[in-house]
Amino acid sequence: MKFFIKDAHKHVGDSVTIQGWMYNKRGSGKIYFLQLRDGSGVMQGVVEASIVDEEVMDQAEKLTMESSVKITGKITQHPKKEDVFEMSVREIEIVHIAEEYPIGKKDHGPEFLLDNRHLWLRSPRQLAIQRVRDEIIRATFEYFHQNGFIKIDTPIFSTNACEGSGDLFYTDYFDTEKAYLAQSGQLYLEAAIMSCGRGFDFGPVFRSEKSKTRRHLTEFWMMDAEVAFCDLEGIIKVQEELILHILMRVLQNCQNELNTLERDQEPLKKIKGPFKRMTHAEAVAELQEMGSDITPDKDLGGDDETILTKKYDSPIFVTHYPAPVKAFYMKRDEDGSNCLCVDMLAPEGYGEIIGGSQREEDLDLLKKWMGEHGVSEKGLEWYMDLRRYGSVPHSGFGYGLERIVGWVCGLKHVRETIPFPRLMNRLRP
Ligand code: 4AD
Ligand code: MG
Repeated sequence: MKFFIKDAHKHVGDSVTIQGWMYNKRGSGKIYFLQLRDGSGVMQGVVEASIVDEEVMDQAEKLTMESSVKITGKITQHPKKEDVFEMSVREIEIVHIAEEYPIGKKDHGPEFLLDNRHLWLRSPRQLAIQRVRDEIIRATFEYFHQNGFIKIDTPIFSTNACEGSGDLFYTDYFDTEKAYLAQSGQLYLEAAIMSCGRGFDFGPVFRSEKSKTRRHLTEFWMMDAEVAFCDLEGIIKVQEELILHILMRVLQNCQNELNTLERDQEPLKKIKGPFKRMTHAEAVAELQEMGSDITPDKDLGGDDETILTKKYDSPIFVTHYPAPVKAFYMKRDEDGSNCLCVDMLAPEGYGEIIGGSQREEDLDLLKKWMGEHGVSEKGLEWYMDLRRYGSVPHSGFGYGLERIVGWVCGLKHVRETIPFPRLMNRLRP
């Protein structure tokens, strides 16, 4: 049976083999302390000249940082610390001796680490972030599946923009036309829920926004959710439940990871429903009082979101943005000036993590809003059809996975939340 370091507590006294990498080494001559990692955890292996042959000591001496090894020995419990286990090493099989490893113990700048992202991913901090990311994905699927949603896969190639044409990536689609890369699967999900009632998608999306902020990637992972027979209030409830479910699961299952990241958990533990609510107009008034130069006709800027979300412990729902700053598909209030939309802003200065709205279900009004936004009907005939055959009030939202991971892990920049970040100035490794 394959042994994993995380299961060491079940194997005290057993002879087992760790297959992994050498994270660090101390000692010389008579005793070596090997820090071994196998992807499931880190454990110290002790190699003592009084126990093993000279040949094993020679192998230990040869091991360099990040060399790959199979190490066999007996699991022992730390004499003083209850949850710490060690291996008393008996055999060392070298799989590969690593060249001098470029990432050392000293501090490296972010650009150097990003250039070496393929290696940096091995660090305990980076692995902890990926584990939290995995837990958030798992909790998301779990929440939706417990609540009657089915996963619908939406396409990446399409002929139209979902979120405005300003930041679309495209490619030649053979020699017939251009294909745009998805900014969100929402429009297709709207079609699908007229079949299944409630659905969600989860996949990579692309935006060529020329933003070099701590919140922007050019390729990121979005989850869109959509519900038939649901208004703005209904979709706000789904958003809140989803985020509470995610926080509950991360706090329950990622204690080691949050500790590795030195994340202060109090602000996360404090979060309870119902979340704080305000309209865009109310947010603008508060921001102006705090010294922002925002005006009622403008979208919230990154700095506005930062100062507003530092003020409250709870995530904030900001609703009713002016129609010109939002998308063509949003339903509007009575006089058509504000959208029935809702963004969720995460606390501690993190800002927008979710964007959503009720959708315009009336064909004539949809056409009118498309006209106002300069969105061509060509290519969206199928989308308008949804308003021709059994149209219903419906609402949905999309979250940015990396923004949520960044917030939950307490990171400064989203670039650490995705294994291989794509930024305006970075396409490799
Ligand atoms: O607010 P957005 O643009 O909303 C939509 O795309 C809707 N179609 C979603 C829907 O209603 N189904 O994007 C949704 C979320 C944002 O709230 C943010 O968390 C994230 O996606 N996001 C980004 N994350 C990283 N880098 C970027 N450049 C992002 N742009 C948006
Ligand atoms: Mg948005």
